[in-house]
Amino acid sequence: MKLHEALNIDLGEIDREIEQLVTRDKDVPKHSQLSSSILELIGSGGKRLRPLMVIVGSRFGRKTSGRRTIQLAAAAEFIHVASLVHDDIIDSAELRRGQPALHTKTGITSAVHIGNYMSARVIELLSKYTSDKDRYVHDLSAVATAQLCLGEYQQMELAYNYDISMEQYLEKSRNKTALLMATCLRVGALSSDSTEEVAKLLYAFGEALGMSFQIQDDLLDFTQSEAVLGKPAGSDLRHGQVTLPVLYALQDPALEAVIRKIGPDSTESEVAYVLELIKFSEALSRAEEISQDYLDQAASIIQQLSAYPAHVDLETLLQYFAARDR
Ligand code: FPP
Ligand code: MG
Repeated sequence: MKLHEALNIDLGEIDREIEQLVTRDKDVPKHSQLSSSILELIGSGGKRLRPLMVIVGSRFGRKTSGRRTIQLAAAAEFIHVASLVHDDIIDSAELRRGQPALHTKTGITSAVHIGNYMSARVIELLSKYTSDKDRYVHDLSAVATAQLCLGEYQQMELAYNYDISMEQYLEKSRNKTALLMATCLRVGALSSDSTEEVAKLLYAFGEALGMSFQIQDDLLDFTQSEAVLGKPAGSDLRHGQVTLPVLYALQDPALEAVIRKIGPDSTESEVAYVLELIKFSEALSRAEEISQDYLDQAASIIQQLSAYPAHVDLETLLQYFAARDR
């Protein structure tokens, strides 16, 4: 069963709302490259994890959720997709979800503008429809986008830096991945008038899931094939990303020596050699343990919310994230 089915969420309704973010913009001509590129991006799949988190959050409120919740869910996906457009340019990635990345089709300059428009459009709409009493909505547009950019900047600054600390790695991962997920659950909850206390717990739950998600993503670079990833395996290592498995591998002096030799000019075979060494070291299982610690944290938050019937949806999300582990 698909995640949205297990959560009993109508994805069609969310998808229509996402499309309308661009089709309802009277300043964007219908068949322009801008409009068709965005519709293509949105239509190219994706699990809609962030919108689902908004909806699940809204099930913890004191009133039933309405249009505002769906708008927030759509906004969350728009921000996420915009960030991926930029991310693929930054990472020189040719593929996204197994399909050619947008910049390979439109050129880099157009793709940058498309990503900018998408994130700006979300900020425009959210501020237009937000009154003083629901200021929390700005958490999504402002905090999440700023943190995303910051996380990505930190990642760039830290590339090929084999002296980074665990704290730096965790902070970057929090900014680039976990805080958007945390914010999705929080704004979903507040959109249906949850208490601040519940919104805080859901934020912490989303943050823990997001941290585990990023660590799993970092592990996939070592464990999955290009066919599964929809992009070449070992990309992170090749681009100097010191992810959690690499941080642990660096603690082994023999591995440290070879990892430190990887730089922007390393050959494919040099990277492939180090990739194999890390794969068969203890680094991967140690990273798995940290991912599991975050999942355990998330599980303990569910316990604190067990009085709410929707806590079963948090269980469903948790199981889904845990299954990525295997
Ligand atoms: C995926 O990283 C990328 C992110 C989680 C965030 C990227 C954010 C930006 C580029 C900032 C720009 C933001 C906006 C709103 C325009 P990854 O490369 O680790 O994952 P991947 O395997 O999916 O490529
Ligand atoms: Mg990337």
